[in-house]
Amino acid sequence: MLPYERFLQEILIDEKTLQNRVAELGQQITQDYDGIDDLVLICILKGGVVFTVDLSRYINVPHEVDFLAASSYGKGGRESSGAVDVRIEKDLTSMVAGRHLLIVEDIIDSGLTLSVVMDMLKAKKPASLKLCTLLDKPEGRAPDVNIQVDYTGFTIPKKFVFGYGLDLDEKFRNLPFIGVVNLEALRESHSPST
Ligand code: IMP
Ligand code: MG
Repeated sequence: MLPYERFLQEILIDEKTLQNRVAELGQQITQDYDGIDDLVLICILKGGVVFTVDLSRYINVPHEVDFLAASSYGKGGRESSGAVDVRIEKDLTSMVAGRHLLIVEDIIDSGLTLSVVMDMLKAKKPASLKLCTLLDKPEGRAPDVNIQVDYTGFTIPKKFVFGYGLDLDEKFRNLPFIGVVNLEALRESHSPST
């Protein structure tokens, strides 16, 4: 049994389905940004890394890739930020004023952190700001958050998932599929062994 298998309840999106969809998104983005030469993909760390790298290879317009890490204080739980007091842990290194920015996220749940990050980026006066997320859990959206998602890979139910960039206690981001976490196995692994 491989180490991740005990935590895997079911595979929600298999590798082939994921890759096909990422390719479609890349083609769509290529069409939409046709003729633009100052596109910047903004990868939201850490979860967005795997998706960003794959997506980038399907985008056939010249673009830069930059990285941003943000965290919220008073985190409500594993799945959600539950707070709007956002700190930038790692800022962008590129200039963004006047350029076309495309945020690349792994998953949007409450959307709290992201909505603050988007406001911060808008304040830097980019030429445009769009949002691409691999996964969207609309049922998890905080009531006061109103985020417009421009590109969505998959809309999924409010389940805790891992793989393809998404972590389970910081591990298993490398899995090539999206799996649903077996919460009972996770709880067992956290409780002291007897
Ligand atoms: P939000 O601020 O509630 O939208 O949470 C977004 C962040 O929480 C994502 O960028 C993920 O890092 C993390 N997250 C939300 N749902 C999941 C999940 O099901 N598995 C792993 N990470 C998640
Ligand atoms: Mg995350």
